Amino acid sequence: MAVSCPTKECMPESEIYEDVKDYYGRVLKSTSDLKSNACLTPATPVAPAVRRVLEEVHPEVTRRYYGCGMVVPECLEGCRVLDLGCGAGRDCYMLSQLVGDRGLVTGIDMTEEQLDVARKYVGYHTKKFGYKKPNTEFVQGYIEALQEAGLKGSFYDIIISNCVVNLSPNKKHVLKEAHHVLKDGGELYFSDIYCSHRLPAEIRTHKVLWGECLGGALWWEDLLRLAEEVGFCTPRLVAASTVTVGNKELQSLLRDYKFVSATFRLFKIPRNVSNESCRVIYDGNVTGHEDFLKFDAYHTFRKNEVVTVDGELASILKMSRFAEEFTFQDHAENKTGSCCVMPKAVSWNPFELELPQGGSADASAGGCCGAQPSCCP
Ligand SMILES: C[S@@+](CC[C@H](N)C(=O)[O-])C[C@H]1O[C@@H](n2cnc3c(N)ncnc32)[C@H](O)[C@@H]1O
Repeated sequence: MAVSCPTKECMPESEIYEDVKDYYGRVLKSTSDLKSNACLTPATPVAPAVRRVLEEVHPEVTRRYYGCGMVVPECLEGCRVLDLGCGAGRDCYMLSQLVGDRGLVTGIDMTEEQLDVARKYVGYHTKKFGYKKPNTEFVQGYIEALQEAGLKGSFYDIIISNCVVNLSPNKKHVLKEAHHVLKDGGELYFSDIYCSHRLPAEIRTHKVLWGECLGGALWWEDLLRLAEEVGFCTPRLVAASTVTVGNKELQSLLRDYKFVSATFRLFKIPRNVSNESCRVIYDGNVTGHEDFLKFDAYHTFRKNEVVTVDGELASILKMSRFAEEFTFQDHAENKTGSCCVMPKAVSWNPFELELPQGGSADASAGGCCGAQPSCCP
């Protein structure tokens, strides 16, 4: 299939697309060919259920995995999921098992060689997972031009992406298109590399640094700004790990700029939804999260615990696929004066998530809402 540069604005950057295709299509053949540690998922403990589904993915697909985080949102059964920059399809085949045979996983990537590997194993995984027909499909196209690639608006429940948005020369277009193809209440849950400051031109134009997911890294504050411009709710930080470059030559070019691999979740909530804080109670029915649900780095909902959430989080929980998993109480309804956990001001800066050197932190770090229980009047 012939593909063209997606937008006029990015024409001067069209060389980037060719360089990145060359890097992931021809230069890299497996994870061991990477020249830095950026496109490597940090070795944090993986939940047994996730480990089990990863073990089912064909080794050739796994060998060509270049992700920097874990993209396993909760409540996936029956969902339609889109993977931006799916590469050889490791995350697609992982999630194919979690959405089940009523769900759908679509992977989109611009690099033919990556898609060839992904497509080669559709039949293998369909059989292995015991499905009558495939629930996974792969589309060639640009993540900045999802509609041009034939993807429908308001169709997907969830979009994931793993170490790809940094490679795009037009990140606002990526977010805009993602917002368009998500249903109301849907979410973009993605891992990527972020920088401590905006990067200068000499780093951004270095081909290897760009290909290694460092040169195109977004300043984390720009993610917050772009998300708001496009119409997403505030990006909620889920996990973060310090990136250690692991290559002296590349490290010297990067000077004192710091990098982090971070996973954020961005919800598409209609603007006219009321934004009032309320009390919520998690019912403990999400598979694999029966005792508690770690929603982001600062909010962990324990089963049957009454928690006060701010207006934005209240609207996210009410309008998304999580609505059925919670009971909602207006403040006026709580006549018992029972104990609850209060919300706390939080920072979405991934560099502030108390990262040990070269280490990582995830949603569990904040404890229950990151706040001390206190009694509501
Ligand atoms: C670092 S790899 C990650 C691949 C995959 N997510 C994984 O975890 O293995 C980046 C992938 O994004 C794809 N990619 C980069 N920029 C893209 C763009 N603008 N449109 C579509 N695909 C893109 C590349 O072809 C490559 O397969």
